[in-house]
Amino acid sequence: MSISLQPLAIGPLRVEWPVFLAPMAGYTDAAFRSLCLEEGCGAVVTEMVNAYGLVVGHVRTEHYLDTWPMEHPIGAQIYGSDPAVMEEAAGRIAALGLFDFIDINAGCPMPKIRNRGDGAGLMKTPELLAEITRRVKAAAGPLPVTVKTRIGWDADSIHVLENTAGVEEAGADALFLHGRVAMARHSGPANWGLLAEVKRARRIPVIGNGGIRLPEDALRMVAETGVDGVMVGRAALGNPWWFRQLRWLAANRTPPLPSVEDVRTLIREHLDREVMLMERRGPKDLKLGVELTACLVLRAHLVRYLRGFRGIRTLAVHLEERQDKATLLGRIDEVLATGRRAGPSAAEPDA
Ligand SMILES: Cc1cc2nc3c(=O)[nH]c(=O)nc-3n(C[C@H](O)[C@H](O)[C@H](O)COP(=O)(O)O)c2cc1C
Repeated sequence: MSISLQPLAIGPLRVEWPVFLAPMAGYTDAAFRSLCLEEGCGAVVTEMVNAYGLVVGHVRTEHYLDTWPMEHPIGAQIYGSDPAVMEEAAGRIAALGLFDFIDINAGCPMPKIRNRGDGAGLMKTPELLAEITRRVKAAAGPLPVTVKTRIGWDADSIHVLENTAGVEEAGADALFLHGRVAMARHSGPANWGLLAEVKRARRIPVIGNGGIRLPEDALRMVAETGVDGVMVGRAALGNPWWFRQLRWLAANRTPPLPSVEDVRTLIREHLDREVMLMERRGPKDLKLGVELTACLVLRAHLVRYLRGFRGIRTLAVHLEERQDKATLLGRIDEVLATGRRAGPSAAEPDA
């Protein structure tokens, strides 16, 4: 396969390798993002951060902006539907000097978000989305502004060409486009045909998202749709090696699969990084203490890291329990010792 991913300019920001880790609430904190960057991911985005929470100074909201200096390029994603609040949140993020771009969430389909007009709700109010883009752009100073949205609300309401025209006109520097409608949430096929249409219609870069499972799929998306980059979410969960595999594949080499030792080392590193992240937080946020909280955060990732290992079920039984680091690491070692089942590789993501 020929190399089809080229360096990308998002306003003044140059992204050398336009392969983005998708924002995923509950997963893509600094610990996981930094691991993905080290494994070859090209750029990362925080999980969605409530603009109102930032403006009123909620300490927990601010934690979603925790980053490490090595995490670049990195975008901060904000959500909300009040232009004044979004503008102020963008100004505060720009002033932190930690981020390379600001992303507006216009695609989250969760009822509690979309029902108040935030996230995917903004697709139903395109003038408001454009207004928010304009004001965020004005507040962001030199930082480029991107919008992450979807192809439509449901199968009968696909207005992505009009909506993205408005966003482009309002000054957005790039689009992340998820090829599913909001009502499909994260399941079902992604419509790459519409990604191609939007790419043809827009001047700003379009980064495609949805329906990428294997690294091969990322190259296929670029070849079939002409998008300027790709954004991958679930395929990278429990599998940060995915990014390295894509780099190998793009260089016409056969990517290696992670060994059991690679998995062990990476899980331990991930847990250490979660501990480091939690150490920054105050006692109010850490009722269970640093170590137990870090173990709880890692829990969501573990079932994915250990997918394909024979003993995964025994670990699943204990995941509901509170356990300290030593106990958890011991249980992980027991699962790793059971070895991988034959069949599809443990590194292959869920549908
Ligand atoms: C658990 C989970 C959390 C997510 N959180 C966010 C989020 O905070 N912001 C956002 O824009 N999209 C969020 N998404 C959507 C992803 O960024 C992405 O658009 C979607 O998963 C499709 O990409 P994929 O098929 O590669 O996973 C989330 C998806 C999942 C599965």
